[in-house]
Amino acid sequence: MVRRVACIGAGFVGGPLGTVIASQCAHIQTAVVDINPEIIDAWNSDTLPLYEPGLSEILLAVRERGHNSVRGFSFNEGHHANGLSKCNLTFSTNVEVAIEEAEMIFLCIDTRTKTTGPGEGFALDMTNLKAAVRTIARVAKTDKIIVEKSTVPCGTASTLRDLLKTEANGACHFEVLSNPEFLSEGTIISDLLYPSRILIGSEMTPSGRKASDKLAEIYRKWVPDDLIIHMDSWSSELSKLAANALLAQRVSSINSLASICEETGADINFVSTACGLDRRITRAMLQPSLGWGGGCFKKDISCLVYLARGLGLEQVANYWASVVEINEYQKARFLERIISHMHGCVGKKFIAILGFAFKKNTSDTRNSAAITLVRGLLAEGAFVSVYDPLVPESQILADSSMRLSKAEPGQLQICKTAYQACTGADAVVVVTDWDDFHTPLRAIPRDSSNLNLPPTLNSPDMHERKAGLNVRIRIHESLDWRTVVDSMQGPKLIFDGRNMLDGEYLQALGCRYICIGKRV
Ligand code: UGA
Repeated sequence: MVRRVACIGAGFVGGPLGTVIASQCAHIQTAVVDINPEIIDAWNSDTLPLYEPGLSEILLAVRERGHNSVRGFSFNEGHHANGLSKCNLTFSTNVEVAIEEAEMIFLCIDTRTKTTGPGEGFALDMTNLKAAVRTIARVAKTDKIIVEKSTVPCGTASTLRDLLKTEANGACHFEVLSNPEFLSEGTIISDLLYPSRILIGSEMTPSGRKASDKLAEIYRKWVPDDLIIHMDSWSSELSKLAANALLAQRVSSINSLASICEETGADINFVSTACGLDRRITRAMLQPSLGWGGGCFKKDISCLVYLARGLGLEQVANYWASVVEINEYQKARFLERIISHMHGCVGKKFIAILGFAFKKNTSDTRNSAAITLVRGLLAEGAFVSVYDPLVPESQILADSSMRLSKAEPGQLQICKTAYQACTGADAVVVVTDWDDFHTPLRAIPRDSSNLNLPPTLNSPDMHERKAGLNVRIRIHESLDWRTVVDSMQGPKLIFDGRNMLDGEYLQALGCRYICIGKRV
C-alpha cells in the first residue's frame, strides 16, 4: 500500500489533487511541492493561490483533522502555517526531499503550447516537465511510480521511460503511468471527489499492471471500482486530448449553428434544446456563447492537430483545426455584431463589459473571449469599463494591454462593481456567465425558462450538494438590472454573450436586447 505521495506542481491540478488525496486517504502523507515560493506561501496562508468552490473548506478539514490528532501532544511533524500539527498534507518548496520520500509522484506541471521553435503554436512545451523527471532520476534512491497528471503529447510516458533509463543510475526501478485529469475549473473539487471516470494507462507488463493497481488502490478509497479503467498509456494520453477536443467541438458546433440562426431568424436556444433532448446527444456543452476559452481546449486541440500532421493525416488535422477556427470566428463575429448594432462605429462610445474570466467561478482569463472583445473595442476607439467579481485589476490590464499604447488615457477603466461599470454606458456586454448577472428568475416565462439558463449539469452548486459537503459557495449578489438600465445612456443596448438573460424582461425595462444565435 502506498503511504507517501508527492505532487510536483502546486497549480490548478497539483494543489487540489494533493488536498483531496490527503482528505480521502488519512494513511497517506501527501507532499505538494513547487519551485515557486510565492505559490507555496499562498497555499500555507489564508489566501489560497486559486479560487475553487469547496477547496478552502476541504483544506481546512484536513488541517483540523491533523491538528485534532495531536491535541495534547508536543511534537510537530510537517510544515503547517497555523502552528502545531500532524497534518498529512504539506505544501513546500522541498522538491528533492519530497521526491526522495515519495513512493508515487504525480507530475502536475504546466505544459503550455510552444511559442517558438519546431511545433510553435501547436506542440506542447515539455521543458518543465522533463526537468522535473530529470530531477527525479537524479534524486531517487528508491523505486518510484511516476504518474503523468499534466496534459502531455501522446507517447510521453514512453519518452519519459527512455529518459529515466538514460538519466538514472539504474539502482532503482521506475514505472510511468498516464492518469489524465478531467478537472473543469470552477468544479475542480467536485470533479475530483465525484469523477466520471479515472483512466490509468500503463505499460502492458506485469510491473506496469502492478503500478497501475497501486494507483487504483488510492482512488478506490473514494471512487467506485467500475469507474477506474486500466489501459495502455498511449490510449490514456490520447483519451485526454480526445475528450477536450470533443467537448470543444460541441460548443463550436452549436456556435456555428448560432451564426445560421442569426442570418435566418431561427433561434439557437430552441435548436440547442431540441438537439440536447435527444438522449444520445444530451444537453451538456451545447450552451451557445461568444466563444469558448480557458487554458485547455485550444492547447489540447492544437496538440492533436500537431500529432495528426506529424502522422501525415492532413485531413484529420484540418478537421480538428476547424474547431478552433470556428471559435476564433465566433469571437470576431460577436465583436462585429456589437459594432454593427452601434451603427458601424463604437469610437467614443461607452461600453461596459460584465465578466472577464473565461467562465464563471474562476479568476482564470486564459483565452477568454473578453480579451478579444476588449482589445477590439479599444482598437475601435471605444471607452471600455470592465467588471469581474474575481479577476484582479492587474490581470485585466495585462490581458487588455496589446493595443493600449494606441489608446487614449482613461480609455480602459476597471471597476469595483457592475453598477460602476454600467453607469453612463451606451452598451453593456455580458461576457462571463457569472450567477451574479442573471435576470430575476421570476421574470422568465415558464415555457422558456430552461432555454435561458446555463446548463445546470455544470453547476458547482449541484455538485456540492451531491458531495454532501458543508462547503461555502461564493456568495453572489444578484445584479439589479433595473438600476443598471436606468443608469445607462443613449440607445441602451444589452449584448448577452451567454444567452443567460431574460430578453423580454430587459426590453420591458427599456433597453434593446441582443443575444447569440437570434436575429434582432
Ligand atoms: C475543460 C474540460 O471541460 C475538463 O474536463 C478538462 O479536464 C479541462 O478542460 C482540462 O483539460 O484541464 P475547463 O477548460 O475548465 O475544462 O472549462 P469548461 O467548463 O470545459 O469550459 C470551457 C469553455 O467553454 C468556457 O469558456 C465555457 O464558458 C465554454 N462553454 C462551455 C460554452 O461556451 N458552452 C457550453 O455549453 C459549455
